[in-house]
Amino acid sequence: MLSTIVSFLRYRAAAVILGGMMLFLDQTANSAAIIEGERMHPVEARNGMAVTSHFLATRSALEVLEQGGNAIDAAATAAFSLAVTQPRSGNIGGGGFMLISSEQKGEVIAIDYREKAPSGAAVDMFLDESGEVDTNRSRFSHLAAGVPGTVAGLALALETYGTISLKQALAPAIALAEEGFVVTPRFSQGLKAAEKRLKKWESSRKIFYKADGGYYEPGDRFVQKELAETLKRIAANGVREFYEGKTAELLVAEMKRHGGLISMADMKSYEPLIRAPVQGLYRGYDIYSMSPPSSGGAHIVQILNILEGYDIGGSGHNSARTIHLMAEAMKRAYADRSKYLGDEDFVKVPLEGITSKKYASELAKGIDIEEAAVSQTIAPGEPQPYESDETTHFSIVDRYGNAVSNTYTINFSYGSGIVVDGAGFLLNNEMDDFSSKPGAPNAYGLIGGEANKVEPNKRMLSSMSPTIVKKDGKNFLVTGSPGGSRIITTTLQVIMNVIDHGLNIKSAVAAPRIHHQWLPDELRVEEGLSPDTIKILKDMGHNVVRKSSMGAIQSIMVVDGMVYGAADPRRSTALAAGM
Ligand code: DON
Repeated sequence: MLSTIVSFLRYRAAAVILGGMMLFLDQTANSAAIIEGERMHPVEARNGMAVTSHFLATRSALEVLEQGGNAIDAAATAAFSLAVTQPRSGNIGGGGFMLISSEQKGEVIAIDYREKAPSGAAVDMFLDESGEVDTNRSRFSHLAAGVPGTVAGLALALETYGTISLKQALAPAIALAEEGFVVTPRFSQGLKAAEKRLKKWESSRKIFYKADGGYYEPGDRFVQKELAETLKRIAANGVREFYEGKTAELLVAEMKRHGGLISMADMKSYEPLIRAPVQGLYRGYDIYSMSPPSSGGAHIVQILNILEGYDIGGSGHNSARTIHLMAEAMKRAYADRSKYLGDEDFVKVPLEGITSKKYASELAKGIDIEEAAVSQTIAPGEPQPYESDETTHFSIVDRYGNAVSNTYTINFSYGSGIVVDGAGFLLNNEMDDFSSKPGAPNAYGLIGGEANKVEPNKRMLSSMSPTIVKKDGKNFLVTGSPGGSRIITTTLQVIMNVIDHGLNIKSAVAAPRIHHQWLPDELRVEEGLSPDTIKILKDMGHNVVRKSSMGAIQSIMVVDGMVYGAADPRRSTALAAGM
């Protein structure tokens, strides 16, 4: 008790009551984040753990685990709950990826429920008359939306590995939408910040603002009747309701009214896919992460392969030498991303080449251990052809030895900003993840080309990297993050913090992060690196820039039968809870 009080004092916390929970305002963090009392240390448990970016979703998931459900049941339940409680990223109008480590089947599989381009999409659909990218069209119009995959993906996960029905998984979400929940400061701030975008559309305005246009303030109750009806229809009629029933009709009508492309045929033909994850080996640990159409797994494994050749542990956590090596490896990986990565159903991705140890050691030969390479001098390499601002992540493990690592998104915070009128959910703006024009950066500054050009029915390239690390065949680390282009490097650093630097999961998640994505040629750092480290990095030639925090990595580590959860303090509503 005394140590708890001392640690609260250390954080100079001010307590507030929110949604029946005691939360603590962290006055030391720049973001004035709210830190919940129980998150000061990794949460320890024996029989299961859920870590999500919203405490209500964590609670829904935990209840499922407590009632004997497995991690996949809890994951679907959490995802639907997030669609209600965190509309900026939780969704049924978007898509994502779920990695499942199944104890019973002895395998790790990936469910790809990424959005796909409508069949009417065309390579130049986001170019204006002068051939430049019209970002308003690719981000904030009905054309920005890909065919949503979330409902189909969660249903497939339940059918294949779950033990509860879709209806059961939807029940907590329906209650949260129908009865409402208490608005948090983060929820209120998010809607205030997105006001211009959301109020442009009457269908969005009427959901996210009061009748007089006023804001929902902390402590208010937020009810979503239209969304509740949609979820209830899915519960009653099953997954096809979303793709062929009234919900699909409402979505297609919304498209027709505003010049969007998604047709009934596009909805009907959407299919989630079971894929093999990308696999790598790092210092004796097996890494499983997301395969194309995500670039995440390929480049996490590639960067780890390059860094395996160096004594990273000996170089020290966040020392200038370690950061330098990481940044140099990152540059090379992101250069390759720009050229080779895309939807494997449309382009041949040299995945084996990119993730091979041999290629990594060739790339490492180009790294100067004293001096930063100028990005413009780095071109995408020649991997051997193998014969070729929001997303949200959650991690769950159960008592049966299963684990789920899930990242899903509508791309930006609140996606396109457009609610499907009458259905109460936001449309994604994932089409902006395509490369609208070779060499033109997308919203995250990522460059792409041929491999990721817009094509009908193609999945746009992603960086989402749900990851599971195993040691000696057992689940060891379950992790992943939002953050656009920073997802890959955020996830990478938690893996390295644990494996190379021996940090506990809480410290691994909280530690200041860095990021380099080749172009722009800047080494992005969070607050918390020492000034002398930054000076050394600058002297080495790095263009160090301090920007806002990166990612929100919700993670679980399993050690000697104990389960440790850590919610990222960068998200005020996040919660790890175990049983
Ligand atoms: O799939 C992707 O890579 C992006 N649409 C993710 C966007 C994202 O993480 C935004 N969140 N901070």
